[in-house]
Amino acid sequence: MTQTEKNIVVLISGTGSNMLAIADAALKEQWLSRFGARIACVISNRPQAEGLQSAFALGLATEILDHKTFASREDFELALVSLIDQHQPVLVVLAGFMRILTPAFTARYSGRLVNIHPSLLPAFTGLHTHQRAIDAGCKVAGATVHFVTPEVDQGHIVAQVVVPVLPLDTAATLAARVLIQEHLLYPKSVRVLLQNLTKSTRQS
Ligand code: GAR
Repeated sequence: MTQTEKNIVVLISGTGSNMLAIADAALKEQWLSRFGARIACVISNRPQAEGLQSAFALGLATEILDHKTFASREDFELALVSLIDQHQPVLVVLAGFMRILTPAFTARYSGRLVNIHPSLLPAFTGLHTHQRAIDAGCKVAGATVHFVTPEVDQGHIVAQVVVPVLPLDTAATLAARVLIQEHLLYPKSVRVLLQNLTKSTRQS
């Protein structure tokens, strides 16, 4: 593999602020010249996802694959795989991609599929993480970048960030505080993964 072949495909469903933070870091930290890495495509399963406009404005290639137009999860994923594989990505980055993935999908991208989850895994897998952390009386919350495996939110942890839970926090205020940290954690984690890939390429 050469220095110019490290494609990243980002999957989003909504605002895409983590995707933007990664795109911003890629530009500012010159991932293309340093690692040969670039965001090759941003794919959304929701046609109205705000992140699509932001990605387009940055000049990134975008694709819409509306899961509602497919008869089954498997059919949707077959189309998704076909879009992703056009780019032969070294990393598939889930950034607020709100679809459960089948074992076939996670196996296909094993070791190169990462996600950010808004809790300190293994605590609070699944949805409504901030409210659940508040209800449980947690003094800290946070976010986790992890590899994706068939078991939802259970894969090997790449990095975590801890955020205090304040006495008057609501799910919304806590989510906003965690999200600010996600925007630092996710680009940094992707950069470390790219650095590791670059080292292993040089050694092979
Ligand atoms: C982020 O908080 C991310 O951690 C969360 O969705 C938000 C997406 O925001 N992801 C999950 O809950 C995945 N289980 P964004 O679209 O602005 O990046």
